[in-house]
Amino acid sequence: MKNAFLGLALCFSATLSAQPDATVTIHPEQGKQIIPKEIYGQFAEHLGTCIYGGLWVGEDSPIPNINGYRKDVFGALKELKVPVLRWPGGCFADEYHWMDGIGPKENRPRMVNNNWGGTVEDNSFGTHEFLNLCEMLGCEPYISGNVGSGTVEEMAKWVEYMTSEAGSPMADLRRKNGREKPWKVKYFGVGNESWGCGGSMRPEYYSDLYRRYSTYCRNYDGNVLFKIASGASDYDYNWTEVLMRNVGHRMDGVSLHYYTVAGWTGSKGSATKFTDDDYYWTLGKCREIEDVLKRHIAIMDKYDPKKQIALMVDEWGTWWDEEPGTVKGHLYQQNTMRDAFVASLSLDIFHKYTDRVKMTNIAQIANVLHSMILTKDDKMVLTPTYHVFKMYNVHQDATYLPLDLNCERKIVRDDRILPMLSATASRDKDGKIHVSLSNVDLEDEQEVAVKLDGVQGKSVSGSILTSDNIDDYNTFENPGTVAPKEFKGAKLTKDGLTVKLPARSIVTLEIK
Ligand code: AHR
Repeated sequence: MKNAFLGLALCFSATLSAQPDATVTIHPEQGKQIIPKEIYGQFAEHLGTCIYGGLWVGEDSPIPNINGYRKDVFGALKELKVPVLRWPGGCFADEYHWMDGIGPKENRPRMVNNNWGGTVEDNSFGTHEFLNLCEMLGCEPYISGNVGSGTVEEMAKWVEYMTSEAGSPMADLRRKNGREKPWKVKYFGVGNESWGCGGSMRPEYYSDLYRRYSTYCRNYDGNVLFKIASGASDYDYNWTEVLMRNVGHRMDGVSLHYYTVAGWTGSKGSATKFTDDDYYWTLGKCREIEDVLKRHIAIMDKYDPKKQIALMVDEWGTWWDEEPGTVKGHLYQQNTMRDAFVASLSLDIFHKYTDRVKMTNIAQIANVLHSMILTKDDKMVLTPTYHVFKMYNVHQDATYLPLDLNCERKIVRDDRILPMLSATASRDKDGKIHVSLSNVDLEDEQEVAVKLDGVQGKSVSGSILTSDNIDDYNTFENPGTVAPKEFKGAKLTKDGLTVKLPARSIVTLEIK
Protein backbone atom coordinates (compact mmCIF):
# COMPACT_ATOMS: atom_id res chain seq x y z
CA MET A 1 0.00 0.00 0.00
CA LYS A 2 1.00 3.56 -0.56
CA ASN A 3 2.46 5.92 1.99
CA ALA A 4 1.78 9.59 2.09
CA PHE A 5 4.10 11.38 -0.31
CA LEU A 6 5.40 14.86 -0.85
CA GLY A 7 2.52 16.46 -2.68
CA LEU A 8 -1.22 16.24 -2.33
CA ALA A 9 -2.85 12.96 -3.27
CA LEU A 10 -5.86 13.40 -5.52
CA CYS A 11 -8.37 11.41 -7.44
CA PHE A 12 -8.07 7.97 -5.96
CA SER A 13 -9.50 5.09 -7.88
CA ALA A 14 -13.12 4.31 -7.21
CA THR A 15 -12.00 0.96 -5.78
CA LEU A 16 -11.78 0.22 -2.06
CA SER A 17 -8.60 0.59 -0.04
CA ALA A 18 -8.31 -3.21 0.27
CA GLN A 19 -8.19 -3.24 -3.50
CA PRO A 20 -5.13 -2.81 -5.72
CA ASP A 21 -3.34 0.53 -5.75
CA ALA A 22 -4.16 1.02 -9.41
CA THR A 23 -6.31 -0.49 -12.14
CA VAL A 24 -5.61 -0.66 -15.84
CA THR A 25 -8.52 -1.79 -18.01
CA ILE A 26 -7.44 -2.69 -21.52
CA HIS A 27 -10.03 -2.86 -24.32
CA PRO A 28 -8.65 -5.30 -26.91
CA GLU A 29 -11.84 -5.22 -28.98
CA GLN A 30 -11.47 -1.46 -29.49
CA GLY A 31 -7.99 -1.71 -31.03
CA LYS A 32 -7.89 -0.34 -34.58
CA GLN A 33 -5.03 2.14 -34.85
CA ILE A 34 -1.54 0.88 -35.77
CA ILE A 35 1.38 2.34 -33.83
CA PRO A 36 3.67 3.23 -36.76
CA LYS A 37 7.17 1.96 -36.18
CA GLU A 38 8.34 5.50 -36.94
CA ILE A 39 7.10 6.57 -33.48
CA TYR A 40 10.42 5.00 -32.39
CA GLY A 41 12.48 7.25 -34.68
CA GLN A 42 15.95 8.54 -33.92
CA PHE A 43 17.84 11.72 -34.75
CA ALA A 44 21.54 12.16 -35.58
CA GLU A 45 22.94 15.64 -36.01
CA HIS A 46 26.40 16.93 -36.79
CA LEU A 47 26.68 18.09 -33.20
CA GLY A 48 29.40 17.28 -30.71
CA THR A 49 30.33 13.63 -30.96
CA CYS A 50 27.02 12.30 -32.24
CA ILE A 51 28.31 11.57 -35.73
CA TYR A 52 32.09 11.79 -35.34
CA GLY A 53 33.10 9.42 -32.56
CA GLY A 54 29.54 8.24 -31.94
CA LEU A 55 28.42 6.65 -35.20
CA TRP A 56 31.45 7.19 -37.38
CA VAL A 57 35.17 6.79 -36.74
CA GLY A 58 36.38 6.35 -40.33
CA GLU A 59 37.88 3.32 -42.01
CA ASP A 60 41.41 3.97 -40.71
CA SER A 61 40.44 4.22 -37.04
CA PRO A 62 41.93 1.77 -34.51
CA ILE A 63 38.39 1.55 -33.08
CA PRO A 64 36.77 -1.56 -34.58
CA ASN A 65 34.56 -0.45 -37.46
CA ILE A 66 32.63 -1.63 -40.47
CA ASN A 67 33.56 0.63 -43.38
CA GLY A 68 34.04 3.48 -40.91
CA TYR A 69 30.92 2.88 -38.75
CA ARG A 70 31.66 1.91 -35.14
CA LYS A 71 31.06 -1.83 -34.80
CA ASP A 72 29.81 -1.69 -31.19
CA VAL A 73 27.37 1.15 -31.85
CA PHE A 74 26.15 -0.38 -35.08
CA GLY A 75 25.46 -3.69 -33.30
CA ALA A 76 23.54 -1.95 -30.50
CA LEU A 77 21.45 0.05 -32.97
CA LYS A 78 20.68 -3.01 -35.04
CA GLU A 79 19.25 -4.67 -31.92
CA LEU A 80 17.20 -1.58 -31.19
CA LYS A 81 15.34 -1.91 -34.51
CA VAL A 82 15.73 1.76 -35.41
CA PRO A 83 12.90 2.44 -37.89
CA VAL A 84 13.90 5.90 -39.14
CA LEU A 85 16.90 8.18 -38.69
CA ARG A 86 16.77 11.96 -39.13
CA TRP A 87 19.91 13.74 -40.40
CA PRO A 88 21.97 16.05 -40.74
CA GLY A 89 20.18 18.38 -38.28
CA GLY A 90 18.71 20.13 -36.40
CA CYS A 91 20.15 23.59 -36.66
CA PHE A 92 23.11 22.17 -38.58
CA ALA A 93 20.83 21.31 -41.50
CA ASP A 94 20.23 24.94 -42.40
CA GLU A 95 23.96 25.61 -42.75
CA TYR A 96 24.77 22.34 -44.47
CA HIS A 97 25.70 22.30 -48.13
CA TRP A 98 25.41 18.72 -49.22
CA MET A 99 27.84 19.00 -52.13
CA ASP A 100 30.63 19.55 -49.56
CA GLY A 101 30.02 16.01 -48.32
CA ILE A 102 30.36 13.96 -51.53
CA GLY A 103 33.30 12.78 -53.63
CA PRO A 104 36.82 11.86 -52.52
CA LYS A 105 37.22 12.67 -48.83
CA GLU A 106 40.51 14.49 -49.33
CA ASN A 107 38.78 16.98 -51.62
CA ARG A 108 35.90 17.74 -49.31
CA PRO A 109 36.01 21.29 -47.94
CA ARG A 110 35.98 22.03 -44.24
CA MET A 111 33.44 24.24 -42.55
CA VAL A 112 32.84 25.69 -39.12
CA ASN A 113 29.86 24.25 -37.25
CA ASN A 114 28.63 27.62 -36.05
CA ASN A 115 25.66 26.28 -34.15
CA TRP A 116 27.55 23.80 -32.05
CA GLY A 117 30.73 25.06 -30.46
CA GLY A 118 32.50 26.29 -33.61
CA THR A 119 33.92 22.83 -34.20
CA VAL A 120 35.59 22.34 -37.58
CA GLU A 121 33.64 19.86 -39.67
CA ASP A 122 35.63 17.96 -42.31
CA ASN A 123 32.58 16.65 -44.15
CA SER A 124 33.92 13.09 -44.12
CA PHE A 125 30.44 11.90 -43.17
CA GLY A 126 28.12 12.97 -45.97
CA THR A 127 25.21 11.77 -48.07
CA HIS A 128 26.73 8.39 -49.05
CA GLU A 129 27.88 7.63 -45.52
CA PHE A 130 24.45 8.46 -44.09
CA LEU A 131 22.30 6.68 -46.63
CA ASN A 132 24.51 3.60 -46.63
CA LEU A 133 24.21 3.45 -42.83
CA CYS A 134 20.43 3.56 -43.12
CA GLU A 135 20.52 0.70 -45.59
CA MET A 136 22.73 -1.33 -43.25
CA LEU A 137 20.41 -0.63 -40.30
CA GLY A 138 17.35 -1.34 -42.41
CA CYS A 139 15.80 2.00 -41.48
CA GLU A 140 14.15 4.81 -43.41
CA PRO A 141 16.30 7.88 -43.91
CA TYR A 142 14.79 11.24 -43.01
CA ILE A 143 16.74 14.06 -44.65
CA SER A 144 16.47 17.65 -43.42
CA GLY A 145 16.99 20.09 -46.30
CA ASN A 146 18.54 23.54 -46.05
CA VAL A 147 16.04 26.39 -46.46
CA GLY A 148 17.73 28.88 -44.12
CA SER A 149 20.96 29.40 -46.04
CA GLY A 150 20.57 27.15 -49.07
CA THR A 151 19.02 27.67 -52.46
CA VAL A 152 16.06 26.05 -54.13
CA GLU A 153 18.44 24.70 -56.77
CA GLU A 154 20.70 23.11 -54.14
CA MET A 155 17.78 21.35 -52.51
CA ALA A 156 16.32 20.20 -55.83
CA LYS A 157 19.67 18.77 -56.90
CA TRP A 158 20.11 16.92 -53.62
CA VAL A 159 16.83 15.10 -54.16
CA GLU A 160 17.86 14.32 -57.73
CA TYR A 161 21.29 13.08 -56.59
CA MET A 162 19.84 10.70 -54.02
CA THR A 163 16.82 9.34 -55.85
CA SER A 164 17.10 9.71 -59.62
CA GLU A 165 17.87 6.41 -61.36
CA ALA A 166 20.08 7.40 -64.31
CA GLY A 167 20.51 9.83 -67.15
CA SER A 168 20.18 13.01 -65.09
CA PRO A 169 23.23 15.16 -64.29
CA MET A 170 22.97 14.46 -60.57
CA ALA A 171 22.48 10.71 -61.09
CA ASP A 172 25.63 10.75 -63.22
CA LEU A 173 27.52 12.55 -60.48
CA ARG A 174 26.33 10.02 -57.91
CA ARG A 175 27.47 7.15 -60.12
CA LYS A 176 30.84 8.83 -60.61
CA ASN A 177 31.08 8.91 -56.81
CA GLY A 178 30.62 5.16 -56.63
CA ARG A 179 26.91 4.60 -56.11
CA GLU A 180 25.19 3.10 -59.11
CA LYS A 181 21.60 2.75 -57.89
CA PRO A 182 19.70 5.56 -56.23
CA TRP A 183 18.76 5.22 -52.60
CA LYS A 184 15.20 5.11 -51.44
CA VAL A 185 14.44 8.30 -49.55
CA LYS A 186 10.95 8.76 -48.22
CA TYR A 187 11.03 11.46 -45.55
CA PHE A 188 12.27 14.90 -46.56
CA GLY A 189 12.15 17.92 -44.25
CA VAL A 190 11.94 21.33 -45.89
CA GLY A 191 13.94 23.29 -43.31
CA ASN A 192 14.26 22.95 -39.55
CA GLU A 193 13.16 25.37 -36.83
CA SER A 194 12.65 28.02 -39.49
CA TRP A 195 11.37 30.33 -36.73
CA GLY A 196 14.81 30.17 -35.05
CA CYS A 197 18.17 28.73 -36.08
CA GLY A 198 16.68 27.84 -39.46
CA GLY A 199 16.23 31.44 -40.56
CA SER A 200 14.35 33.44 -37.87
CA MET A 201 11.29 33.61 -40.12
CA ARG A 202 7.68 34.45 -39.47
CA PRO A 203 5.23 31.66 -40.30
CA GLU A 204 3.68 33.63 -43.19
CA TYR A 205 7.07 34.04 -44.89
CA TYR A 206 8.13 30.45 -44.20
CA SER A 207 4.84 29.15 -45.62
CA ASP A 208 5.63 30.82 -48.93
CA LEU A 209 9.18 29.51 -48.88
CA TYR A 210 7.90 26.01 -48.12
CA ARG A 211 5.60 26.21 -51.14
CA ARG A 212 8.46 27.35 -53.35
CA TYR A 213 11.19 24.93 -52.17
CA SER A 214 8.93 21.90 -52.01
CA THR A 215 7.70 22.46 -55.58
CA TYR A 216 11.16 21.47 -56.83
CA CYS A 217 11.60 18.44 -54.59
CA ARG A 218 10.58 15.98 -57.29
CA ASN A 219 9.55 12.35 -57.21
CA TYR A 220 12.08 10.50 -59.38
CA ASP A 221 11.73 7.00 -60.77
CA GLY A 222 9.13 5.67 -58.38
CA ASN A 223 10.60 7.30 -55.26
CA VAL A 224 7.78 9.21 -53.56
CA LEU A 225 8.80 11.89 -51.10
CA PHE A 226 6.87 12.49 -47.91
CA LYS A 227 7.47 16.22 -47.47
CA ILE A 228 7.59 17.64 -43.96
CA ALA A 229 7.31 21.33 -43.18
CA SER A 230 9.32 22.90 -40.39
CA GLY A 231 6.86 23.12 -37.53
CA ALA A 232 6.27 24.81 -34.24
CA SER A 233 8.20 24.85 -31.03
CA ASP A 234 6.09 23.52 -28.16
CA TYR A 235 3.44 26.16 -27.33
CA ASP A 236 3.56 28.15 -30.60
CA TYR A 237 0.07 27.30 -31.84
CA ASN A 238 0.03 30.24 -34.23
CA TRP A 239 2.82 28.65 -36.28
CA THR A 240 0.71 25.52 -36.84
CA GLU A 241 -2.38 27.61 -37.60
CA VAL A 242 -0.61 29.70 -40.26
CA LEU A 243 1.01 26.67 -41.89
CA MET A 244 -2.23 24.72 -41.99
CA ARG A 245 -3.98 27.70 -43.53
CA ASN A 246 -1.27 28.75 -46.01
CA VAL A 247 0.39 25.45 -46.89
CA GLY A 248 -2.31 22.88 -46.15
CA HIS A 249 -2.15 19.72 -48.22
CA ARG A 250 1.02 20.77 -50.01
CA MET A 251 2.77 19.22 -47.01
CA ASP A 252 2.48 15.55 -46.01
CA GLY A 253 3.56 16.31 -42.49
CA VAL A 254 4.39 19.19 -40.21
CA SER A 255 6.85 18.90 -37.38
CA LEU A 256 6.71 19.81 -33.71
CA HIS A 257 9.61 20.12 -31.26
CA TYR A 258 9.05 19.62 -27.55
CA TYR A 259 11.89 19.35 -25.07
CA THR A 260 11.59 18.51 -21.39
CA VAL A 261 13.67 21.46 -20.30
CA ALA A 262 13.57 23.91 -17.40
CA GLY A 263 13.90 26.93 -19.72
CA TRP A 264 16.10 28.31 -22.46
CA THR A 265 18.09 30.79 -20.41
CA GLY A 266 20.29 30.04 -17.41
CA SER A 267 20.93 26.61 -15.97
CA LYS A 268 18.81 23.71 -17.15
CA GLY A 269 19.84 21.65 -14.14
CA SER A 270 22.25 18.77 -13.78
CA ALA A 271 21.50 15.50 -15.54
CA THR A 272 22.64 13.47 -12.54
CA LYS A 273 22.27 15.65 -9.44
CA PHE A 274 18.66 16.46 -8.69
CA THR A 275 16.16 16.37 -5.87
CA ASP A 276 13.00 14.26 -5.65
CA ASP A 277 11.07 17.44 -6.30
CA ASP A 278 13.08 18.07 -9.48
CA TYR A 279 12.37 14.52 -10.57
CA TYR A 280 8.61 14.83 -10.19
CA TRP A 281 8.69 18.24 -11.88
CA THR A 282 10.51 16.69 -14.84
CA LEU A 283 7.85 14.05 -15.31
CA GLY A 284 5.10 16.66 -15.04
CA LYS A 285 6.78 18.77 -17.71
CA CYS A 286 7.35 15.72 -19.90
CA ARG A 287 3.68 14.75 -19.65
CA GLU A 288 2.58 18.23 -20.61
CA ILE A 289 3.35 17.22 -24.18
CA GLU A 290 -0.06 15.56 -24.18
CA ASP A 291 -1.86 18.93 -23.83
CA VAL A 292 0.49 20.46 -26.38
CA LEU A 293 -0.26 17.67 -28.84
CA LYS A 294 -4.00 18.02 -28.29
CA ARG A 295 -3.91 21.72 -29.05
CA HIS A 296 -1.82 21.38 -32.22
CA ILE A 297 -4.00 18.49 -33.32
CA ALA A 298 -7.19 20.51 -32.76
CA ILE A 299 -5.84 23.19 -35.09
CA MET A 300 -4.89 20.59 -37.68
CA ASP A 301 -8.33 18.95 -37.39
CA LYS A 302 -9.97 22.26 -38.31
CA TYR A 303 -8.14 22.41 -41.66
CA ASP A 304 -7.70 18.70 -42.25
CA PRO A 305 -10.59 16.77 -40.68
CA LYS A 306 -9.65 13.60 -42.58
CA LYS A 307 -6.27 13.61 -40.85
CA GLN A 308 -4.25 13.38 -44.05
CA ILE A 309 -1.45 15.62 -42.82
CA ALA A 310 0.77 13.99 -40.22
CA LEU A 311 2.18 15.58 -37.11
CA MET A 312 5.83 14.59 -36.67
CA VAL A 313 7.39 15.22 -33.27
CA ASP A 314 10.79 15.13 -34.87
CA GLU A 315 12.68 16.39 -31.80
CA TRP A 316 11.84 15.52 -28.21
CA GLY A 317 13.55 14.48 -24.99
CA THR A 318 15.35 15.88 -21.96
CA TRP A 319 17.77 18.78 -22.13
CA TRP A 320 20.10 19.26 -19.13
CA ASP A 321 23.28 21.23 -18.52
CA GLU A 322 26.25 19.76 -20.30
CA GLU A 323 28.37 17.37 -18.23
CA PRO A 324 31.11 19.30 -16.42
CA GLY A 325 34.40 19.05 -18.26
CA THR A 326 32.88 18.42 -21.69
CA VAL A 327 33.12 20.74 -24.69
CA LYS A 328 30.76 23.71 -24.49
CA GLY A 329 28.15 23.56 -27.21
CA HIS A 330 28.39 19.79 -27.66
CA LEU A 331 25.31 19.03 -25.50
CA TYR A 332 26.81 15.90 -23.97
CA GLN A 333 24.72 14.79 -20.99
CA GLN A 334 24.42 11.70 -18.81
CA ASN A 335 21.21 9.71 -18.69
CA THR A 336 19.64 8.38 -15.47
CA MET A 337 16.51 6.44 -14.57
CA ARG A 338 14.77 9.84 -14.65
CA ASP A 339 15.49 10.06 -18.38
CA ALA A 340 14.24 6.50 -18.80
CA PHE A 341 10.90 7.58 -17.32
CA VAL A 342 10.70 10.59 -19.63
CA ALA A 343 11.11 8.13 -22.51
CA SER A 344 8.49 5.64 -21.30
CA LEU A 345 5.92 8.28 -20.39
CA SER A 346 6.40 10.09 -23.71
CA LEU A 347 6.04 6.89 -25.73
CA ASP A 348 2.88 6.01 -23.78
CA ILE A 349 1.42 9.37 -24.82
CA PHE A 350 2.53 9.15 -28.46
CA HIS A 351 0.79 5.77 -28.79
CA LYS A 352 -2.54 7.43 -28.01
CA TYR A 353 -2.39 9.93 -30.88
CA THR A 354 -1.21 7.82 -33.78
CA ASP A 355 -4.21 8.76 -35.88
CA ARG A 356 -2.36 12.08 -36.28
CA VAL A 357 1.16 11.58 -34.92
CA LYS A 358 2.99 9.39 -37.42
CA MET A 359 6.61 9.84 -36.42
CA THR A 360 8.69 10.99 -33.47
CA ASN A 361 12.47 11.33 -33.20
CA ILE A 362 14.13 11.42 -29.82
CA ALA A 363 17.06 13.85 -29.65
CA GLN A 364 19.56 12.32 -30.15
CA ILE A 365 20.92 8.87 -30.97
CA ALA A 366 24.44 9.13 -29.46
CA ASN A 367 26.39 11.45 -27.17
CA VAL A 368 23.93 14.36 -27.47
CA LEU A 369 21.04 15.25 -25.13
CA HIS A 370 18.65 12.35 -24.35
CA SER A 371 20.73 9.71 -26.06
CA MET A 372 20.58 5.96 -26.50
CA ILE A 373 24.32 5.48 -26.45
CA LEU A 374 27.37 7.19 -24.98
CA THR A 375 30.86 6.63 -26.32
CA LYS A 376 34.34 7.57 -25.18
CA ASP A 377 37.25 6.57 -27.39
CA ASP A 378 36.78 2.82 -27.92
CA LYS A 379 34.24 2.41 -25.09
CA MET A 380 30.48 2.40 -25.44
CA VAL A 381 27.72 2.36 -22.85
CA LEU A 382 23.98 1.87 -23.30
CA THR A 383 21.85 4.37 -21.41
CA PRO A 384 18.71 3.56 -19.39
CA THR A 385 16.78 5.22 -22.24
CA TYR A 386 18.24 2.72 -24.71
CA HIS A 387 16.83 -0.05 -22.53
CA VAL A 388 13.37 1.54 -22.53
CA PHE A 389 13.40 1.78 -26.33
CA LYS A 390 14.44 -1.85 -26.57
CA MET A 391 11.80 -3.04 -24.10
CA TYR A 392 9.20 -1.01 -25.98
CA ASN A 393 10.08 -2.01 -29.52
CA VAL A 394 7.48 -4.81 -29.33
CA HIS A 395 4.92 -2.02 -29.83
CA GLN A 396 6.31 -1.06 -33.25
CA ASP A 397 3.67 -1.63 -35.95
CA ALA A 398 1.36 -3.30 -33.43
CA THR A 399 -2.30 -2.37 -32.92
CA TYR A 400 -2.79 0.17 -30.16
CA LEU A 401 -5.20 -1.05 -27.48
CA PRO A 402 -7.08 1.75 -25.71
CA LEU A 403 -7.11 1.57 -21.92
CA ASP A 404 -8.53 3.22 -18.84
CA LEU A 405 -6.23 3.97 -15.96
CA ASN A 406 -7.13 4.59 -12.35
CA CYS A 407 -4.30 5.50 -10.03
CA GLU A 408 -3.09 7.92 -7.46
CA ARG A 409 -1.99 11.36 -8.64
CA LYS A 410 0.17 14.01 -7.15
CA ILE A 411 0.44 17.74 -7.64
CA VAL A 412 4.01 18.59 -8.55
CA ARG A 413 5.91 21.87 -8.88
CA ASP A 414 4.31 24.35 -11.29
CA ASP A 415 0.91 22.89 -10.35
CA ARG A 416 1.00 20.02 -12.80
CA ILE A 417 -0.82 16.82 -11.93
CA LEU A 418 1.25 13.68 -12.20
CA PRO A 419 -0.34 10.21 -12.18
CA MET A 420 1.86 7.77 -10.29
CA LEU A 421 1.35 5.14 -12.98
CA SER A 422 1.63 5.27 -16.76
CA ALA A 423 0.56 2.47 -19.08
CA THR A 424 0.23 1.48 -22.71
CA ALA A 425 -0.80 -1.70 -24.52
CA SER A 426 -0.76 -3.15 -28.02
CA ARG A 427 -1.43 -6.40 -29.86
CA ASP A 428 1.16 -7.58 -32.38
CA LYS A 429 0.46 -9.36 -35.63
CA ASP A 430 0.84 -12.78 -33.94
CA GLY A 431 -1.88 -11.91 -31.45
CA LYS A 432 0.42 -11.38 -28.46
CA ILE A 433 -0.54 -8.53 -26.15
CA HIS A 434 2.20 -6.33 -24.75
CA VAL A 435 1.59 -4.06 -21.78
CA SER A 436 4.12 -1.50 -20.57
CA LEU A 437 3.74 -0.04 -17.08
CA SER A 438 5.78 2.69 -15.38
CA ASN A 439 5.58 3.11 -11.63
CA VAL A 440 7.00 6.61 -11.24
CA ASP A 441 6.62 6.60 -7.45
CA LEU A 442 10.00 6.99 -5.80
CA GLU A 443 9.05 5.26 -2.56
CA ASP A 444 6.27 2.78 -2.98
CA GLU A 445 5.53 -0.42 -4.76
CA GLN A 446 2.15 -0.46 -6.52
CA GLU A 447 -0.08 -3.44 -6.90
CA VAL A 448 -1.80 -3.06 -10.25
CA ALA A 449 -4.84 -4.97 -11.47
CA VAL A 450 -4.67 -5.25 -15.26
CA LYS A 451 -8.04 -6.20 -16.72
CA LEU A 452 -8.04 -7.63 -20.20
CA ASP A 453 -11.70 -7.20 -21.00
CA GLY A 454 -12.66 -10.56 -22.43
CA VAL A 455 -9.18 -11.91 -23.28
CA GLN A 456 -7.94 -14.88 -21.25
CA GLY A 457 -4.14 -15.06 -21.23
CA LYS A 458 -2.40 -18.46 -21.08
CA SER A 459 1.02 -17.21 -20.05
CA VAL A 460 2.74 -14.01 -19.02
CA SER A 461 6.40 -13.05 -19.05
CA GLY A 462 8.20 -9.76 -18.83
CA SER A 463 11.23 -7.60 -18.22
CA ILE A 464 11.86 -4.81 -15.76
CA LEU A 465 14.10 -1.76 -15.66
CA THR A 466 14.64 -0.39 -12.18
CA SER A 467 17.41 0.80 -9.95
CA ASP A 468 18.05 1.52 -6.26
CA ASN A 469 18.25 5.25 -6.90
CA ILE A 470 16.47 7.44 -9.39
CA ASP A 471 19.76 9.18 -10.23
CA ASP A 472 21.56 5.95 -11.08
CA TYR A 473 23.21 5.79 -14.48
CA ASN A 474 25.59 3.69 -16.48
CA THR A 475 29.25 4.62 -16.82
CA PHE A 476 32.08 3.27 -18.93
CA GLU A 477 33.45 1.69 -15.73
CA ASN A 478 30.07 0.32 -14.60
CA PRO A 479 27.95 -0.11 -17.73
CA GLY A 480 25.41 -2.44 -16.10
CA THR A 481 24.15 -0.34 -13.16
CA VAL A 482 20.80 0.17 -14.87
CA ALA A 483 19.89 -2.77 -17.08
CA PRO A 484 16.72 -4.78 -17.73
CA LYS A 485 16.10 -8.03 -15.91
CA GLU A 486 13.52 -10.76 -16.10
CA PHE A 487 10.32 -9.75 -14.31
CA LYS A 488 8.39 -12.31 -12.32
CA GLY A 489 5.92 -10.04 -10.53
CA ALA A 490 2.92 -10.63 -12.83
CA LYS A 491 0.32 -13.37 -12.29
CA LEU A 492 -2.59 -14.34 -14.48
CA THR A 493 -6.05 -13.95 -12.93
CA LYS A 494 -9.46 -14.87 -14.29
CA ASP A 495 -9.95 -11.44 -15.88
CA GLY A 496 -6.36 -10.37 -16.58
CA LEU A 497 -3.32 -9.98 -14.35
CA THR A 498 -2.09 -8.69 -11.06
CA VAL A 499 1.25 -6.98 -11.18
CA LYS A 500 3.49 -5.99 -8.28
CA LEU A 501 5.40 -3.03 -9.61
CA PRO A 502 8.39 -2.01 -7.49
CA ALA A 503 8.94 1.71 -6.87
CA ARG A 504 10.85 3.43 -9.74
CA SER A 505 10.25 0.68 -12.25
CA ILE A 506 9.36 0.25 -15.90
CA VAL A 507 7.99 -3.12 -16.96
CA THR A 508 6.96 -4.61 -20.29
CA LEU A 509 4.80 -7.73 -20.17
CA GLU A 510 4.00 -10.21 -22.90
CA ILE A 511 0.70 -12.04 -22.66
CA LYS A 512 0.06 -15.03 -24.90
O1 AHR B 1 18.72 18.77 -30.83
C1 AHR B 1 19.48 19.92 -30.65
C2 AHR B 1 18.88 21.15 -31.32
O2 AHR B 1 17.65 21.45 -30.76
C3 AHR B 1 18.56 21.01 -32.79
O3 AHR B 1 19.67 21.23 -33.59
C4 AHR B 1 17.54 22.08 -33.00
O4 AHR B 1 16.66 21.79 -34.05
C5 AHR B 1 16.86 22.19 -31.66
O5 AHR B 1 16.79 23.51 -31.22
